[in-house]
Amino acid sequence: MAKLWGGRFTKGTDKAVEDFTSSIAFDSRMYKEDIAGSKAHATMLAKQGIISGIDAKAIIKGLDAIEKQIDAGTFDFSVALEDIHMNIEKRLTDAIGEAGGRLHTGRSRNDQCAVDLHMYVRKSVLHMGELLIDMEKALLEVSEKYKEVIMPGYTHMQRAQPVLFAHHMMAYFSMFNRDFKRLGLIFDYADVMPLGAGALAGTTYPIDQTITQDLLHFSSIYENSMDAVSDRDYVLEFLHFASMVMMHLSRLSEELIIWSTNEFNFIELDDAHCTGSSIMPQKKNPDVCELVRGKTGRIYGHLMGLLTMMKGLPLTYDKDMQEDKEGLFDAVDTLHFGLSITADMLRHMKVNGDHMRKVLDDDFSNATDMADYLAKKGVPFREAHAIVGAAVQHCIEKGCVLLDLSLEDFKGISPYFEEDIFNAISIPACIAGRKNYSGTAPECVERQRVHGKASIEVQEKQLHAWAEQLHML
Ligand code: ARG
Repeated sequence: MAKLWGGRFTKGTDKAVEDFTSSIAFDSRMYKEDIAGSKAHATMLAKQGIISGIDAKAIIKGLDAIEKQIDAGTFDFSVALEDIHMNIEKRLTDAIGEAGGRLHTGRSRNDQCAVDLHMYVRKSVLHMGELLIDMEKALLEVSEKYKEVIMPGYTHMQRAQPVLFAHHMMAYFSMFNRDFKRLGLIFDYADVMPLGAGALAGTTYPIDQTITQDLLHFSSIYENSMDAVSDRDYVLEFLHFASMVMMHLSRLSEELIIWSTNEFNFIELDDAHCTGSSIMPQKKNPDVCELVRGKTGRIYGHLMGLLTMMKGLPLTYDKDMQEDKEGLFDAVDTLHFGLSITADMLRHMKVNGDHMRKVLDDDFSNATDMADYLAKKGVPFREAHAIVGAAVQHCIEKGCVLLDLSLEDFKGISPYFEEDIFNAISIPACIAGRKNYSGTAPECVERQRVHGKASIEVQEKQLHAWAEQLHML
């Protein structure tokens, strides 16, 4: 097939080279951005008298027809035409003739692919924002639904102190809430228009970048054309964001996996979210959680890959930079499935509150509270710690827990113990007593939910403002 850049060549491209250099297999995903960018460019060219109004109209009509074909899946993409930009331009020229050949006036594929990618990232920020908000809502719902449930809290994977299951869930809420904040930076970085930079140095045509800026809804224009075509910071910020979200999702997945083992039996995932074994009929495997955990590595890989790819590149555009897209697209897809399925899984899991509680009745998670009891009566905390440590040791030898001791036993351990020790170290008291601001007492967790809901409202307003700016409402 004749190349759009074939003029100085005397020979066709090697087939393997065509396959190796082509990006159409993945960048066709940006066809809407490419068409919007071209329509804005053609409109600006006509307004500035660089091409005729008649040509601009033909270009826009032709591009609209191509968009419909791609929407309908009837557009035949060609590897020989390398990428989405040239596939569309060639088809346009085939359809409308000379006018199509004027579209690329005052533009390069370097600023063209950059403006497409900026728009794609901006749009993806909105998509990710919606997913994060839904995840936050799922965590709020679960925390509300099981608000009475008490579970062992862990450090070093050893039972430490009782916590509300809702408190545990709200810790994840906080993580995803922070992730949303990162979106603001990505949006701002992507919301700068590179179009007009040309190949690298600008253009000699009397273009007006404020017209395309306005048509494509960008808040500002790159100050420097060389930076405009070389910058991939916004993609890197996105991949950093994606890595953080995956890390949070992966930790949650790990807990869901552990909690659904027979050994823990804290939760049961819905059948719809698990798969079976081809040989062991009894198996119900938490595959989704494992895959989310597993895919986290590959998203980190995309971040490392792009950082490494960029680090040695001289200004301005180098073909290496075509490698910026697959990792980004994969991150968008992985987060889409990871966040939406995990939110659904949380909403449908069964929490075995009775079992969690039984576990606590059988262990030493209330030991801190016993030491605190003594400390509050004037025993220095260090000393109280040692006294309770010895009591725990004594219980282990006897095969019982602290609450099995009699008042006499307690008094034998320390004269400060009185009848009220039994209440003081009861499991509900361990929860109720921790009512400092960030503590696990029910009213504190309730406050987290109230603040969480308010924060979601702010985030929804932010999403709405972005969608308004992008005319996506
Ligand atoms: N497909 C290319 C990319 O994604 C478009 C830019 C090509 N520019 C060039 N001078 N070869 O990076």
